[in-house]
Amino acid sequence: MQQEKLALLGGPKTKTTDYGTGKRFGKEELKELKEALDQNTLFYWYGNKVKTFTKNFADMYGSKYCVATSSGTAAIHVALGALGVGPGDEVITSPITDMGTVIGILFQNAIPVFADLDPNTYNLDPASVESKITDRTKVILVVHLAGNAADMDGIMEVAHRHHLKVIEDCAQSYLTYYKGKLCGTIGDIGCFSVNDFKTISAGDGGMLITNNEELYRRSFRFADKNYNRLPSAGPVRDVTFLAPNYRMNELTGAVGIAQLDKLKWICDRRNAYGERISAGIRDLPGIEIPKVIDGCRSSYWFYMFRVDEKKAGVSRDQFTDALAAEGIQCGRGYIPTCVYGYDMFANHNAYDGTRCPFGCPKYAKHDISYRPGLCPTAEEILKTAIKMPVNEFFTDQDADDVIHAIRKVANYYRK
Ligand SMILES: Cc1ncc(COP(=O)(O)O)c(C=O)c1O
Repeated sequence: MQQEKLALLGGPKTKTTDYGTGKRFGKEELKELKEALDQNTLFYWYGNKVKTFTKNFADMYGSKYCVATSSGTAAIHVALGALGVGPGDEVITSPITDMGTVIGILFQNAIPVFADLDPNTYNLDPASVESKITDRTKVILVVHLAGNAADMDGIMEVAHRHHLKVIEDCAQSYLTYYKGKLCGTIGDIGCFSVNDFKTISAGDGGMLITNNEELYRRSFRFADKNYNRLPSAGPVRDVTFLAPNYRMNELTGAVGIAQLDKLKWICDRRNAYGERISAGIRDLPGIEIPKVIDGCRSSYWFYMFRVDEKKAGVSRDQFTDALAAEGIQCGRGYIPTCVYGYDMFANHNAYDGTRCPFGCPKYAKHDISYRPGLCPTAEEILKTAIKMPVNEFFTDQDADDVIHAIRKVANYYRK
């Protein structure tokens, strides 16, 4: 194999053209926004935009119900509230995720418990999930990371055996398929985010979907101060317990409607881009592509692969530097540490200056420890992964440049 001189060492750069770009928002969003303003109300219960947005999203997912929220974090909090998670309960989730996955657990004064991951899907390993179940476990909160489906057969089997509820965090995984089913429709509730970094954006916002009418009613109320706005549900201010205000407004709903129309095209483009890169580098020794389970489809919110230093002859950090010098957008890992490595977990300091909820009397029997080594595979993923952005406007040329650069760097260092 002829070795090309690395750009890092003074050779020619692989990527000499700019990555493809495009406009996410256009006349479609403007039209919806104008209509929203013309309604003369921006309140979701009086206007039609949030209602249309939630109906369209539910239809797209083949789901009976959808509730809109002010963020993805809010959608997950609402799902937990609707499922009755409270002080002393444990929720099992993934250690490689956004804080938005765990914030709602803590706001319910419940305890996040982290299970380990599959080394190549970067998603929950059902066997590890099962090993973390205690008599306090109430919910498994599955994250489908980076557009890629978790092992839902395994997780649902564990959940059913232990009579646990399942929430799917699909903030990074729109139109992700698991063996013919859409992620978000397999567990009890699926949650989504439309923050500005996500596959579609309405600035900020979130949605949850469910087929269970009772969960829908509870979610609807939980997202709106526990008020009772749905028909035939009795007086509005029938407030029996605490719930936040996580309402979506009509402007957000309006943009969301227009963005939903673009979602399939966006996910198709992202899927094609990610699959093209995987096909172009999968044969390289020491390079581990993200694993998509057989029969599943990823919508690649980002693309993350791993470097096996022994086989590749180069460390992850050196590989990243060499790839960046080739003009490829890339970075080390995804988050600096597993979520349980953040100070607030290590120091049991969620509600600042107190030990709540970790020291809650309702939880006293169960000492929870968030120490390094808790989820060894997840920690190893973060030490060996290289993350690259994916965008629907990136071109085949961009993908081919990425492939060329990865091959160039890998071939250079290979013994
Ligand atoms: C996996 C995951 N869950 C939840 C969230 C929270 O979404 P939001 O930022 O809309 O609150 C995010 C957003 O970054 C996410 O990536």
